[in-house]
Amino acid sequence: MDERRKVLDYLWKKGIVATPDEVDEIMRNGGINFLIEGMNRREEVKRFEIIKSREYFEGTTGKSESFRRLFQDRFVKIKKILQSRVSVSSPVDIEFAKMHEGETTVVAMVRDVRTSRYGYVLEIEDLTGSVIAYADQAIGETLLPDDIIGVRGNFKNGKLYVKEVTYPGVDNAQKKEKIIESESAIAFISDTHVGSRMFLQEHFMRFLEWLKNSESGRKVRYLIINGDLVDGIGIYPGQEKDLEMDDIYEQYSKLADLLNLLNNEINIFLIPGNHDLVRIAEPQPVLPREIRSMFNDNVRFLSNPSYISIEGMKILLYHGMSLNDLMDLIRGMKYDNVLKMMEELLKRRHLAPFYGRNVPIAPTPEDFMVIEEVPDIFVTGHIHVHRTGIYHGVLLLNASTWQKQTDYQRMHNFVPDPCKVTIKFLNKPGFSVLDFK
Ligand SMILES: [Fe+2]
Repeated sequence: MDERRKVLDYLWKKGIVATPDEVDEIMRNGGINFLIEGMNRREEVKRFEIIKSREYFEGTTGKSESFRRLFQDRFVKIKKILQSRVSVSSPVDIEFAKMHEGETTVVAMVRDVRTSRYGYVLEIEDLTGSVIAYADQAIGETLLPDDIIGVRGNFKNGKLYVKEVTYPGVDNAQKKEKIIESESAIAFISDTHVGSRMFLQEHFMRFLEWLKNSESGRKVRYLIINGDLVDGIGIYPGQEKDLEMDDIYEQYSKLADLLNLLNNEINIFLIPGNHDLVRIAEPQPVLPREIRSMFNDNVRFLSNPSYISIEGMKILLYHGMSLNDLMDLIRGMKYDNVLKMMEELLKRRHLAPFYGRNVPIAPTPEDFMVIEEVPDIFVTGHIHVHRTGIYHGVLLLNASTWQKQTDYQRMHNFVPDPCKVTIKFLNKPGFSVLDFK
């Protein structure tokens, strides 16, 4: 068959109508091989999409004006989500509400929550002003400073008596667990901590071997590593004695050597965590170019957090520093109930809702940490446990680590849960878990 015929045949099979001029152009560029390559690339693009990820973030000076802008943006975004809830559909401004008496609804950020002998006393504010509000225990005890909520209540003498509070949350009427007609699978891992003496290299190699050479492993077309790719240097006092490599570039180079063992067919997505070579303040940008260049082309670098779609499955990736805040702020929260903490983040539609605690926040002009769209899968890591669950149709995963117990963890009686690989078969509900220990 002559080359032109092959091209026409291929186009016909793909159902593509091309003009004679377009066919001429394909022939000039290399004929059938050029065409097939181009089509493959097009299909590749369709298979996954990086919806939200930033190579760098603008406007990161720590001035109070930049923080004011950040909080304003957060407020506007979350208010919009709240207004889609029936109970908050038409809120009024606090300054306006204060001048009238009677029942009304406002959207406000909690500035302060205190207990008193009458229950809870709150100070809440919106972009127009602030008001003192009184709430009973059932409502008051769930509120935390910086929460952005819908508040229905009675205004009287410039004070607000709260009847009902609404969090932006997940609209459970809308959300159902997503299943996609595809044979592909995604593997999720986190916290590899390459360069640490406690990095479980043998087990990690066994996992790579499985991906490459087993029948089920070859179904995994996507691998996600959710931050703390390497152990880093100078992350905590006395880290030197835990390190096998004290050069961070060497640590990344070792991770690259390992991941480059996989064939190019598997799409790998990496986000940074608090041990990686980017600023610690969130949101964290993608790793620098000199690190990226160590890896094969099938490895993609994303920011923390980031939002991607894999064959239509929407995935929110967040390393998880704010999980420590939740443990500090909410009674009964421990490593064990990380899923509950993830629910608290979804409930607030924000990944790091509390300012001035464990998570340093960079004052970007736009609040990148707002969960503007509820994902199908929400993944965290950071705390080195492994848990899977579901909340209003959103699959939750705290992905497992590849670092065995450190001295620091032993001192604090914390036992990690390493070497678990979470697999999402796109055409099946829930997750499957493999243990490489
Ligand atoms: Fe970690």
